[in-house]
Amino acid sequence: MRRYRLFIHRGSGNQSRHLEQAFQLLEEKAKSKPCEAMKGLIAEGQETMQEDFSEPLLDSAIICAAQKVEHYEIAGYGTVCAWARSLGLEDVADLLDQTLNEEKAADEKLTEVAGGIISEAGTAESSDEEEEEGETVGAGSAPRKGSSNKAGSDNKSKRRAV
Ligand SMILES: [Fe+2]
Repeated sequence: MRRYRLFIHRGSGNQSRHLEQAFQLLEEKAKSKPCEAMKGLIAEGQETMQEDFSEPLLDSAIICAAQKVEHYEIAGYGTVCAWARSLGLEDVADLLDQTLNEEKAADEKLTEVAGGIISEAGTAESSDEEEEEGETVGAGSAPRKGSSNKAGSDNKSKRRAV
């Protein structure tokens, strides 16, 4: 039987079980191999967590890092699922499709959470701007927790870079 050499993230729980079942149906032995791309995405996510962003921006950036992982998984599972269907391996394709749908659902959930954070941050920022418009220059408004006015402007420049 032909060897399947596309490397996809093994996941955990159901996802791992689905892969093992798929290999059993193929009468192939599953072999694991560290995934350099996934390691890179995780390292990038860990770097993001160290950034000096304002809280909503940091949360949004972390969600972005998590979505990069989901998109990588969706690409891998989507491809092997299509391969299985094109070979008439419907049982294998159905197993992989379950995992693909879990990855898509996770991505959609992250998009939903990110949307809430972004709109909440936008609401908070516009109410900050309304307060600032009513202040006299030099009135000494308190800086946000953990930042100075200068850091606040730095955050704006970082926001553009994300
Ligand atoms: Fe995932």
